[in-house]
Amino acid sequence: MPFPKDFLWGAATAAYQIEGAANEDGRGASIWDQFSHTPGKTLNGDHGDLACDHYHRYEEDLEWMGRLGINAYRFSVSWPRVLPEGKGRINEKGLDFYARLIDGLLQEGITPILTIYHWDLPLSLQEKGGWANRDTTGWYAEYADLLYRKFGDLVPYWITHNEPWVASFMGHFTGEHAPGISDLPTALQVAHHLLLSHGIAVEAFRAESLPHAKIGITNVLTKAYPAREKDEDRRIAHLFERLQNGWFLDPIFSGSYPLELIPILAEFSDFSFIREEDMRKINQPIDFIGLNYYFRNIIRHNPEAKPLGFEIIPPQGEVTAMGWEVYPQGLLEVLRFLNTHYPSVPILITENGAAYEDRLTPDGRVKDEQRIAFLKTHLEKVERAISEGIPVIGYCVWSLMDNFEWAYGYSKRFGLLYVDYESLERIPKESFHWYQSLIRRERS
Ligand code: FCB
Repeated sequence: MPFPKDFLWGAATAAYQIEGAANEDGRGASIWDQFSHTPGKTLNGDHGDLACDHYHRYEEDLEWMGRLGINAYRFSVSWPRVLPEGKGRINEKGLDFYARLIDGLLQEGITPILTIYHWDLPLSLQEKGGWANRDTTGWYAEYADLLYRKFGDLVPYWITHNEPWVASFMGHFTGEHAPGISDLPTALQVAHHLLLSHGIAVEAFRAESLPHAKIGITNVLTKAYPAREKDEDRRIAHLFERLQNGWFLDPIFSGSYPLELIPILAEFSDFSFIREEDMRKINQPIDFIGLNYYFRNIIRHNPEAKPLGFEIIPPQGEVTAMGWEVYPQGLLEVLRFLNTHYPSVPILITENGAAYEDRLTPDGRVKDEQRIAFLKTHLEKVERAISEGIPVIGYCVWSLMDNFEWAYGYSKRFGLLYVDYESLERIPKESFHWYQSLIRRERS
């Protein structure tokens, strides 16, 4: 395999999905605490109060990481754990937790990849309008700056946002995620503020001059295919891709939104929330692009489908427990797309993985051959991309351990470690051993 020797072999998690300790050591509430405690919002009313209890078990989790042999670990900081009201008062105990975690990683020889925002906005800021309020961009940058000052010398990879597409559209348009708003104009405004906050946070990062640290943003990218060989399907599939991918990449790399979408979206927004200086702020050089890839989309034009005139067709082929199509070729296509449209920017695959109906056998094993096949076929595409000269610098499996899968609660298991939610015991799945051997081979 042509994986470079310094390739980052990682696994990923996010604070709300694993930490638990929701009401401990001064942590404030986030929009996900409120959303998950609202009846009907998550499957079985599941919430992250306890989750995997990583907050108390992080030392054991560090041992698992050591055993797995990863040399990179992507995690997120819980904003309300370090700033309970979102701004102002700092919770030192919260910061200490991340200091201990980062220290533990470095001792294991694992490179920390820190995501500043993985969807858990402090509830007090939601009460001030959340991401629809422009002021949140400034509060976010202050929060980011606090982390730079505290951990800037220790953490080499920084990610401003995880999937602003999902945070804006699922949180504010479909309403499936916190804060559960269903309003397209709000989603567009939120998307802009997320991007703007990214730009301001990158500016603040540069001002700290951290010579060994790099900053980027993670987007979840798709490849969209027309459902039928018809011009209208081709056109709408292209527009869908421009929306999910281009809306969150073009502003960063070229300082403007995809123009072909403006006339369509103008029906829903006058975009008066975009100020003159914003696009310049968003358009800052970044050091790498974070890529999350899960599945492709097949799109059909349907003028009846509100509001944008497209339908996503259910997948025909093999699917995971999420109903997501297994389509490794899409990862290669997306990597090629990034390298063609935004050339020479190093790409860090910050998430890729699959949920399956894992069963613990009486002898304590989880035989997840499907997950192994999923990871293997996707990694073959990464290998192929590298051999084509695409600068992929790392790959993180989603996820290190089973965890709180947002609206699906604990029903979907993505982990390399199986979590018994009664005892909170971690049990390595076969995929854990498979990944361990692969890394060992690649790094020797
Ligand atoms: C991504 C999220 C991550 C996880 C995976 C399955 O969209 O970033 O937190 O839920 O999906």
